[in-house]
Amino acid sequence: MKITVVGTGYVGLVTGTCLAETGNDVLCVDIDKNKVAKMQNGEVPIYEPHLDILFERNINAGRLKFTTELEEGLTHGQIIFLALPTPEDEDGSADLSYVLGVAENIGKLMTDYKVIVDKSTVPVGTAEKVTAVVAKHATVDFDVVSNPEFLREGFAVDDFLKPERIVIGSSSEKATQLMERLYKPFVRSGNPIIIMDEKSAELTKYAANSFLATKITFMNEIANFCEKVGADVDKVRIGMGTDSRIGKRFLFPGIGYGGSCFPKDVKALHKSGKDNLYNFQILDAVINVNNKQKTALIPKVVSHLGEDLSGKTIAIWGLAFKPETDDIREAPSLYIIDELLSRGATLKAFDPEAMDNVQRKLGDKITYADSMYDAIENTDALIICTEWSIFRTPNFQKLRENLKAPIIFDGRNLYDIAEMEKEGFTYFSIGRKNVL
Ligand code: UDX
Ligand code: UDX
Repeated sequence: MKITVVGTGYVGLVTGTCLAETGNDVLCVDIDKNKVAKMQNGEVPIYEPHLDILFERNINAGRLKFTTELEEGLTHGQIIFLALPTPEDEDGSADLSYVLGVAENIGKLMTDYKVIVDKSTVPVGTAEKVTAVVAKHATVDFDVVSNPEFLREGFAVDDFLKPERIVIGSSSEKATQLMERLYKPFVRSGNPIIIMDEKSAELTKYAANSFLATKITFMNEIANFCEKVGADVDKVRIGMGTDSRIGKRFLFPGIGYGGSCFPKDVKALHKSGKDNLYNFQILDAVINVNNKQKTALIPKVVSHLGEDLSGKTIAIWGLAFKPETDDIREAPSLYIIDELLSRGATLKAFDPEAMDNVQRKLGDKITYADSMYDAIENTDALIICTEWSIFRTPNFQKLRENLKAPIIFDGRNLYDIAEMEKEGFTYFSIGRKNVL
């Protein structure tokens, strides 16, 4: 099939590449000239595991192409995916200007039947808005479909190729059939393609992400309470998670959820509620608890190293909002860095993938180390913000040698308490006993 994907961020690029992988002829459109030039040169503009292999294979096979011209995109594809940014507006709502702006141009440029697919996470009622904007200019028939993505960064390729479910919101038989044909190769093992109306599909995405954010936040509150009463959240997590009604996943406490989706989606659903005279009390609490959780390590740092951190050098392991990505959008590390800098600390950071992005944002406010052990050399303590695998089994002797004092503040509960005690570390984590 001939497919056009507008917007080549994490979602658009993974969508385009994976659709090319099943034999479709895909053209990706992006307004960013540099990015398009890079991709035309065979360069993947983001870090996403396994994407590079598929990207190269499909470019070489001539199934994956790039352009800056929307008009070319519209001549090419029968199905037009919109994977455009929907950033958070000042009032917490999703900013639809990119989606609606492109929709308007699609309306003007369309010369034959198109299925326009909302892949971006958009509030309930957006398909209706997109339809209205396209219809204002369109002279030919079209359908608008809501097809939310459930791609986790770091696992996006896997999630796309082997989806647990595909949600299609459509009121057009013709569009639904085309979408089913497109997705059939991805659900051969029997996972469902769930067809519903556009609004329910739009809300499904927000409900799923907000539920997961709530699950994490609930666990963070249990972790905070564990600290008060001397319980161990890791034991509680396993005790709870083995109940299949609760499930083991997304119960890991830490320094809050971040990324390009959860923070903005929870706020957008909350705002959407308000706009429709519904007060999502749970989401209100989730937003507040998560904001606080991002800096949950700070009181521990302050209680141990003092309120004034000038003269102290602190190492930071992990900057990305989670492992296996270079994405730093809403990363808890940035909030922690802010707090530490405001208290006068000098910071030395290491992240396997996200340092360039942080450097673009923070410049020389912090220093960037060549390796995880470089980062801790001559520092007063280590703070762990992201659970990259390489941090899980470090050489503790090297850590003791490089750090001025063996102090670790772990925002991701990477290490065993008993082991840290044995290794002679002063060790703070989340929802567990401190080792002093
Ligand atoms: C985005 C949304 O933010 C998310 O809510 C949605 O679920 C999927 O799309 P992401 O893929 O991470 O997520 O977006 P981003 O990395 O911001 O990339 C968007 C791309 O669209 C950029 O490459 C940008 O240059 C491009 N773009 C933006 C256009 O091509 N045209 C525009 O008018 C605006
Ligand atoms: C999320 C959704 O999982 C995906 O389905 C959706 O479409 C896009 O948003 P993503 O943002 O890539 O994906 O990451 P995810 O793995 O969901 O993690 C989000 C945040 O929650 C991260 O900051 C992560 O550290 C945090 N998290 C996750 C926890 O704190 N504890 C957990 O148990 C799981």
